[in-house]
Amino acid sequence: MVYGVVLAGGIGSRMGGDKPKQYLEVKNKPIIIYTIEKFFSVPEFEKIIVLCPNQWVEHTKNLIEKHIAPVKDRVVVIEGGTTRNETIMNAIKFIDSEGKLDEETIIVTHDSVRPFVTHRIIKENIEAAKAYGACDTVVPATDTIVEALDNTVISDIPDRSKMYQGQTPQSFNAMKLKRMYDSLTEEEKSILTDAAKIFVIKGEKVALVDGETYNVKITYPYDLRVARSFLEEEEND
Ligand code: CTP
Repeated sequence: MVYGVVLAGGIGSRMGGDKPKQYLEVKNKPIIIYTIEKFFSVPEFEKIIVLCPNQWVEHTKNLIEKHIAPVKDRVVVIEGGTTRNETIMNAIKFIDSEGKLDEETIIVTHDSVRPFVTHRIIKENIEAAKAYGACDTVVPATDTIVEALDNTVISDIPDRSKMYQGQTPQSFNAMKLKRMYDSLTEEEKSILTDAAKIFVIKGEKVALVDGETYNVKITYPYDLRVARSFLEEEEND
């Protein structure tokens, strides 16, 4: 079975303000709702698991009922973890607790603050995760990537044609990811903030799925302005 996993367990410290950024409204609707709607309309998902901070669980359920009712039974809202990867692990634990975790289970994990994901990207993620065991959504790097190992002087300038910028979704065979994550030391867990990297360091293949430049992550107040203008454009199309 395939599960959608919407990651909303963060607090948005870089955005600031009095609530996590996924609950900020853009054109009268919270960002997280735009994201869940995209997932909700993909029939391949058995369920969409939304993970958020404990104190936001009830509020998130209310928002889903208000905006996506009466179909909320395909969406569950549970508590996220202290790190992004722990949030993903909570989703896998939930699937396990329902007795649905097996070698075929695929999870499509997505940042709640990337509301412009498309159905094409989600479907290609499902196909690639089934075929390869893991995939990452990327766009070709537009800027030249400069590496500075000591953060002071350049140590390398890799060939840009081989460089990509990572987006989400990132999709995985859930049991494979869980096994690899459980085998990491606490120190490795603290360094490996990107779930796809867990596969990479274990020597496992991670396929690339073409993202879209507009599949942006809302991180800073500037990104909110960008999101607003994208939505206005969509409305005028
Ligand atoms: N996230 C999560 N669980 C965590 C931390 C992050 O589910 N423990 C989610 C965020 O809610 C967000 C996504 O991962 O949708 C991408 O993370 P990021 O943009 O870094 O979000 P925050 O951690 O909320 O932001 P910041 O780093 O500015 O605090």
